Amino acid sequence: MSGDRRWRLSLISVLIDIQVAVVDISSSRIAAWNSSSLPVFGPGIDDIVMSCRGRNLFFSTDVEKHVANADIIFVSVNTPSKRQGLGAGKPVDLMYWESTARLIADISTNDKIVVGKSIVPVKKAEAIERILTHNSNDVRFHILSNPKFLAEGTAINNLLHPDRVLIGDRSTPEGQAAVNTLVSLYAHWVPVDHIISMGLWSAEISKLAANAFLAQRISSINAMSALCEATSADVSEVAYAMGKDSRVGHRFLNATVGYGGSYFRKDILNLVYICECNGLTQVANY
Ligand SMILES: *[C@@H]1O[C@H](CO)[C@@H](O)[C@H](O)[C@H]1NC(C)=O
Ligand SMILES: *[C@@H]1O[C@H](CO)[C@@H](O)[C@H](O)[C@H]1NC(C)=O
Repeated sequence: MSGDRRWRLSLISVLIDIQVAVVDISSSRIAAWNSSSLPVFGPGIDDIVMSCRGRNLFFSTDVEKHVANADIIFVSVNTPSKRQGLGAGKPVDLMYWESTARLIADISTNDKIVVGKSIVPVKKAEAIERILTHNSNDVRFHILSNPKFLAEGTAINNLLHPDRVLIGDRSTPEGQAAVNTLVSLYAHWVPVDHIISMGLWSAEISKLAANAFLAQRISSINAMSALCEATSADVSEVAYAMGKDSRVGHRFLNATVGYGGSYFRKDILNLVYICECNGLTQVANY
């Protein structure tokens, strides 16, 4: 507990000279984040938001003003599964990403680092990059990928003590400066050996692959659970014994309903789609 508190205080104090504006076109969402009862519950969220809000953390619907002023823009837009057209149901739908890119390109007057928090299929990201670079004259955009690893109910703990932070870029010489900027931002509270900079697609696929492996563990223990019921074995005894094998490990061995969490499902569909786009039918089926 005291360790946690120390982390919180130091996070707040180191970030105090960094101004963070959270913008959204939904005025009701922004009003909720700006109120005394936040729209999201979770350990630590209230403490962090309440102590930073109004000091260096601001919530606003004035998207254009804050985007125009920003040096680094984290884009965290909805990427729902596509409803219609080619590949309906699987790939993430990028209309929000595309309109955000257009807005950034239209109003930017200085160089910016644009950081994608949501996974974007390989070819689509190139399209987004074209939107950003075409609409502007002298302004340069450095596009980085920084996938989020959220598990429901642990957002703040993941933020304060991430297993790893992935930063993907295209490995251009100018991109390296942008990577260094983002690394030094995270390095304020994340040990540098937990910050991994890598190729753009390595970062994106790492995230999808990690979730696919976790979902696979849950699916596997659920299958064993069915066998346990049929044979009057106890799945929690089996899971405990399996977890004692250090190669297996004890995490993610709780039998649950389905995959647990919409992230896994979306990421797996996305992974399947990327495999299909690359002609890897067998991998996609697997
Ligand atoms: C958020 O609250 C602050 C302080 O009460 C206020 O000054 C600001 O205008 C509010 N912003 C929005 C977008 O409601
Ligand atoms: C499964 O969940 C229960 C309760 O949430 C927990 O006590 C137990 O340790 C978990 N077991 C494994 C193998 O993770």
